[in-house]
Amino acid sequence: MMRQLKLIFVTVLLIFGFGFGVLLLNLQDFYTLCRKIISSPTSITVTANEKFNLRPKVQCERNPPFLVLLVTTTYKQKEARNAIRQTWGKERQIGGKLVSAYFLLGASTNIRFQEELIDESNTYNDIIQGDFKDTYYNLTLKTIMGIEWICAHCPQTKFVMKTDSDMFVNTLYLVELLEKKNQTTNLFTGSLRPHDAPIRDIHSKWYISKTEYPPAKYPPFCSGTGYVFSVDVAEKIQNVSTSVPFFKLEDVYVGMCLEKLKINLQNLYNRPTFFPYKRPFTICGYRKLVTSHGVRPLEMRLFTDALRRSEAEQC
Ligand SMILES: *[C@@H]1O[C@H](CO)[C@@H](O)[C@H](O)[C@H]1NC(C)=O
Ligand SMILES: *[C@@H]1O[C@H](CO)[C@@H](O)[C@H](O)[C@H]1NC(C)=O
Ligand SMILES: *[C@@H]1O[C@H](CO)[C@@H](O)[C@H](O)[C@H]1NC(C)=O
Repeated sequence: MMRQLKLIFVTVLLIFGFGFGVLLLNLQDFYTLCRKIISSPTSITVTANEKFNLRPKVQCERNPPFLVLLVTTTYKQKEARNAIRQTWGKERQIGGKLVSAYFLLGASTNIRFQEELIDESNTYNDIIQGDFKDTYYNLTLKTIMGIEWICAHCPQTKFVMKTDSDMFVNTLYLVELLEKKNQTTNLFTGSLRPHDAPIRDIHSKWYISKTEYPPAKYPPFCSGTGYVFSVDVAEKIQNVSTSVPFFKLEDVYVGMCLEKLKINLQNLYNRPTFFPYKRPFTICGYRKLVTSHGVRPLEMRLFTDALRRSEAEQC
């Protein structure tokens, strides 16, 4: 009898303790905590021989994309990621050609951010996360990670685009121009910078000391705001990147790889279509461009809606 009472007492105490826990932490936190306890070992897909903390499950072999967009982002840019998912990064078929977008991120030391990112990854299946520190000067690692992901998990795509989360990309026009170009190997295109010199002004974001890079000129490269290449180039860059020393400016680094590979940069079309700055929005202007820079999430939605609404209009 005494023993039974004791058991009841302990059970009641446990139930109260649990309820108190729910009250103390708020419900959301309590839920997260429980889920963490239950599912944490399997929710991060870390494989010993892999560089990815998180990566999407894709079926490129069964359903090969025509174009994969790799978009560099950081944790804080969730709003931009959502806008991109709903606008130019929305997975779709363009004339029977599949276009899909994935986001590139580095590692977070903040458990809360990481939890949110795991949620995002589970919801959208479009997060590629490396295990390097997520800083501006690690953009090179981020880009190379994207290229490695393509080589390992989606080499069936025909083309790859690397771009940023503050861009507007007209994928419809890009696909049209890639088809017109009709070059599926050794293609590297974007906003060409054939004659750039290192910036020696110490206050610049792009400052490069003479010790870091002695020559007075960079090799030709394409602005990191958006460049496109055929998938064979991805494999070649991955190959050569092991012997090209790290350089913190990502677009210049890729230019160094291309120089070593003797791959020449090309214009995609006979007039400019990749703009490394912000083009004022007009229907006709945005129909015939591939990239515009410095576009906020709200503008991505506005531009997309405006373009959709005016499909019937002539230019
Ligand atoms: C880049 O990431 C590596 C690996 O996490 C880290 O050791 C390094 O400090 C980072 N570099 C910069 C410039 O942040
Ligand atoms: C594309 O290029 C191939 C050879 O490189 C050629 O045979 C084909 O006719 C071209 N197609 C178009 C539409 O120009
Ligand atoms: C990678 O590099 C090796 C040695 O330099 C070469 O033999 C191989 O063909 C290269 N692979 C590609 C895809 O370029």
